[in-house]
Amino acid sequence: MAVGILLVGGLGTRLMPLTKYTPKPMLTVAGLPVTEHQLAMARNAGITTVVLATSYLSDLFTPYFGDGSKWGMKLLYAVEKSPLGTGGAIANAAQLLDTHESIVVINGDVLSSHNLGEQIRQHEANKADLTLHLTTVADARAYGCVPSDSQGRVIAFLEKMDKPVANTINAGCYLFNPKVVQSIPLNTVISVERESFPQLISDAAQVFSYIDNSYWLDIGTPQALLKGSRDLVSGIADAPALEMADVAHHDQHCLIMATARVDASAVIDQGSCIGAGATIAPQAHVRGSIIESGAVVGKGAIISDSFVAAGAEVAENAQISAAFVTKSEILTI
Ligand code: GDD
Ligand code: MG
Repeated sequence: MAVGILLVGGLGTRLMPLTKYTPKPMLTVAGLPVTEHQLAMARNAGITTVVLATSYLSDLFTPYFGDGSKWGMKLLYAVEKSPLGTGGAIANAAQLLDTHESIVVINGDVLSSHNLGEQIRQHEANKADLTLHLTTVADARAYGCVPSDSQGRVIAFLEKMDKPVANTINAGCYLFNPKVVQSIPLNTVISVERESFPQLISDAAQVFSYIDNSYWLDIGTPQALLKGSRDLVSGIADAPALEMADVAHHDQHCLIMATARVDASAVIDQGSCIGAGATIAPQAHVRGSIIESGAVVGKGAIISDSFVAAGAEVAENAQISAAFVTKSEILTI
């Protein structure tokens, strides 16, 4: 068995102003917070105890997720007063866990359909210190570039390099031997990507890759956030969280959460989702967009490739394209 840590404490700077009052993992894609999609994926792999490693806007998680019993899970919360970096966050969160089990750590902004159960199995069969899920991308510059050999052993971990030496990248899901987590110093700002992983490799620790090229996306940029939601709605990405959610209507073109009010003359398509309690007035057209809970879209408005945040209002006949709309501002993305 394995236990989990979700890294959900980053600032989400690239998604401002959506992340001014909502932490990135609590932004909704396909009607549910990113974290809820990740928890369903972890649960499908048999992980039922998870610590949310929070820092920025930490108070926003507990009211929604509580003790996790609604999802048949046990959720715990570790709070960093100021962000400790990915390594410091893992060390801090692990104090709440039984340290004898394998620890799965997942970046809190990733949608992944990879086979986590198989990653755990291989990690344990290899008696590895660390097993990194890698995926293949055309341009590795924005990621951790991770070359490995034909035996699956990781050769190097090169965070965000200008001239990547491989196209296999760190997909942000790690299996740790608990002893390795215990060796990370407490109350210290540390990056696993820039410090712990390179150190483990130079110490000749047992660091393995698990290469799985299933659907994968980091939703940390505006375009990716919208794409991730559309992919969950259309079925390109696995969306196990939707099986347990209160959904009024779901087909490959649109998702409408329960309690949303969508006028019969409105058109919702191209993978759009309408959050719980949102209102879509007559003749409105929502294309490829996210409308969060409680938002209001006025009569005849046309919204394309945009994110309308919780409680925001779009005026009658407004035409909005490629924008973030919050209660107080509209930003072209
Ligand atoms: N608790 C906590 N504390 N969480 C943090 C902190 C912190 O100090 N800093 C970052 N995080 C969380 C973020 O909330 C996010 O979920 C995750 O760690 C990764 O941070 P990002 O800021 O999104 O990093 P990135 O996307 O530039 O790069 C990372 O992800 C790539 C894959 O998406 C790295 O892990 C790369 O190596 C990787 O390729
Ligand atoms: Mg990221």
